[in-house]
Amino acid sequence: MKQLDGLTNYLEKFNSIPTPFYFYDVELLIKTLKEVKIWSNKYHFHIHYALKANVNDRILTEIKNLDFGADCVSGNEIKKAIQTNFASDKIAFAGVGKTDLEILYALDQNIFCFNVESIPELEIINQLAEQKNKIAPIAIRINPNVNANTHKYITTGLEENKFGLNHWELNEVCEKIKSLKNIQFLGLHFHVGSQIMDLSVFKNLCTRINEFQQFFIERNFQLPILNVGGGLGIDYQNPDEKSIPNFELYFSVFDKFIEKIPNQKIHFELGRSLVGQCGSLISRIIYIKKGLKTNFAILDAGMTELLRPALYQAYHKIENLSSKKAENFIYDVVGPICESSDCFGKSVILPESKRNDLIAIRSAGAYGEVMSSRYNLRDETISYYSEDLIKIK
Ligand code: LLP
Repeated sequence: MKQLDGLTNYLEKFNSIPTPFYFYDVELLIKTLKEVKIWSNKYHFHIHYALKANVNDRILTEIKNLDFGADCVSGNEIKKAIQTNFASDKIAFAGVGKTDLEILYALDQNIFCFNVESIPELEIINQLAEQKNKIAPIAIRINPNVNANTHKYITTGLEENKFGLNHWELNEVCEKIKSLKNIQFLGLHFHVGSQIMDLSVFKNLCTRINEFQQFFIERNFQLPILNVGGGLGIDYQNPDEKSIPNFELYFSVFDKFIEKIPNQKIHFELGRSLVGQCGSLISRIIYIKKGLKTNFAILDAGMTELLRPALYQAYHKIENLSSKKAENFIYDVVGPICESSDCFGKSVILPESKRNDLIAIRSAGAYGEVMSSRYNLRDETISYYSEDLIKIK
C-alpha cells in the first residue's frame, strides 16, 4: 500500500467526492490506540473508550479490536457498544440522569459498573436490582472540586457542577452503601473535565483521590477499583506535529501520585485523546463574499456538521488543501446555516482562496460527527476512511 502523509495526498480522491464529509485517518487512529495500549499496559491500567466522543462504526471496531472497555452515558450507547462486540463486563455506565429503563437494560446486560452520581440514583438502582433479583456493581462518582482549567462548558469537577456527589454527602453515602442490599460497592469514580492540557490538573486530582480513598478506608470499605475518568486534551494548534498525545507522561502522573491500594484496578475513560486527531471535516468553498472589514469564505459545511466552534468558541485549524500559495489572505470562515454563530474561525490566515477550493477543518475526530444535527434539514453527515479512499480509482 502506498504510504501517504498529510491530507493533500488525498486531494485527487477528495476532488471526486461530494462535500462536506468527515475523513478519518485510520492509520493514525491505530497508531494512537497502540500508544495507549503500550503505556497503559506498562502500569496495568484499564482503558474504557468514552463512546460519546465518536460512535462511528469503523472507529468503534478498531477500538474494540484492541480490547478496550467502553464508557457509556446512555442505554443506547450501551446497546451500541454491545452491538460492536465490546465485552459487557467491560462497560461502565455514567451520567446524572439514568432512566429506569436504561438501568434495567444495563442490569440485564450484566455491565461492569454503574458510576452513581446521586443518592436518589443509588436508591433506584438498588430497588431495580432487587426487582430483578440481581446485585448491581456500583462506583460512587465524587465531585473532587478540582479546577480543570478548561472551557467552562466542559468543566465537570467543581462543586457548582451537576456531576457527582459532593464531600458533604459522603457520610450519608457510606450509610446507604452499608444498608442497601442489592448493590455491590466497587470503589470511586472521578472525572473533572475535558480537553485538559495542563497535567498538574491530574496531579491535583490524584491528591484529592488519595484523600477520598482514605476516607472510605477509614470506614472499613474495600475499594477494588478506582476510575479516574478521562479528559486528556489534544493539540488543536498542531495536529500534524502533535498528532498523538503524550500518553507516556499522562499515565506516569497517575502512577506516581496515586497512593495505590494493593490489588486495586485503576480504570480510565478516554475519549478525545483516542480519536480527536484522526478526523478532519472536508468541505468546499461555495462563495468568497466581500464583507465590510473582512472577506468571508462561505463553506458547504456548517455548525450542523461541526458544532464545537459555535458552541464553545473552540479553535480548529483550518487549511486550504487546494492551494499551495503563500498564506497571506485573511478570511472569516463561515458555514451556510442561518445563525451568526455558524462560524469556524474569524480572521483566519489562508492562501488566496476561491470557489470550489477544498478546505480541511482539522482535529474533528472527537465530538464532531457525533454532535452533528439535521438543523435546516441538512443532509446526514457522511464519512470516508483513509484505507477506502486509497482503493478508489
Ligand atoms: N468520562 C466522563 C464521565 C465524561 O463526562 C467524559 C466527557 C469522558 C469520560 C471523556 O472525556 P474526554 O477524554 O473525551 O475528555 N463536547 C465537548 C466535550 C464534552 C465532554 C463530556 N464528557 C467538546 O466538544 O469539547
